[in-house]
Amino acid sequence: MALRRLHHEQPESFAFTAENKDWAAGQIAKYPEGRQASAIIPLLWKAQAQAGGWLPRPAIEHVADMLGMPYIRALEVATFYSMFNLAPVGKFFVQVCGTTPCMLRGSDDVIAVCKDKIGPEGKVSADGTFSWLEVECLGACCNAPMVQVNDDYYEDLTRENFSELLDDLKAGKARTPGSLIGRKTSEPVGGLTSLTDPAVYNGTATATKAAGPKADDQAPKKAAKPKPQAQEGAPALKDPGEGAAAEAAPELLKAPKGEADDLKKISGVGPKLETLLNEMGFWHFSQIAAWTPENVAWVDARLKFKGRIERDDWIGQAKILAGGGETEFSKRVEKGDVPSSKD
Ligand code: FES
Repeated sequence: MALRRLHHEQPESFAFTAENKDWAAGQIAKYPEGRQASAIIPLLWKAQAQAGGWLPRPAIEHVADMLGMPYIRALEVATFYSMFNLAPVGKFFVQVCGTTPCMLRGSDDVIAVCKDKIGPEGKVSADGTFSWLEVECLGACCNAPMVQVNDDYYEDLTRENFSELLDDLKAGKARTPGSLIGRKTSEPVGGLTSLTDPAVYNGTATATKAAGPKADDQAPKKAAKPKPQAQEGAPALKDPGEGAAAEAAPELLKAPKGEADDLKKISGVGPKLETLLNEMGFWHFSQIAAWTPENVAWVDARLKFKGRIERDDWIGQAKILAGGGETEFSKRVEKGDVPSSKD
């Protein structure tokens, strides 16, 4: 844990508002006589909210006085838990999870955007709008990488969608918390992979079982899976095998129509991957922009990406680029600022 000290500039005093004082009294009353100190966490939390997102020393001492605690005990609690900020924070306080699952899914990109758009870690931006901090796991690992902005979680982040999120917050645009690639709660990125047969949950499976199997149901059956037809000239692709999500081959071209697009303008696609995509039959942003979830599953299974297409939001990026627009990433590629996108 990083060393946590009180901020060098402190206000003269702190006192709960009348409303917060009543709320605090209610918290303290929950504990038996002589155990009032147990209310320290909620009281410090409320003091932090009232003080604008951080805990000045007078606020910690005010809470200690209310609970009959020595100041040092209250300071121990405030300095131990990273949920308490000991220095001023921006109007939007961004906590970036950098723990292993988020790190493996791209939290480095999120941190790079913070450095780029907000500034150094732990410092409030010049206009007071943002500050950011890298923190440990926030418990939303399924939808990694993620950040907490004030009280809300934003998940499935990419360099582009997180950058847009910061722009929107700064511009005062309301954003819905949760996944930024539109997945519901923490369902699999590529769609359901289990319990896909409605009979399992609509009651018909139970009815069939109760009636007993028919004679010709005794032998196990395997549904024939249609094989995707690649167009002439497309490479021989590895069959992903049984158990893969529902798939359908997207449009494949044996050669570009006119000039091929620079697919490296899509964040997540480097020269090697671009070559692979070309070999598969993808040359244009418009092809990728048109992928359905089944097409994504088809490509994902062959490139063994395990969700990278959704994680990096290839389709969203491709739609912008296909329409003649630019993304933050494509601008950097154009300028030659992305070494990994150079041929
Ligand atoms: S590792 Fe990031 S939320 Fe758990």
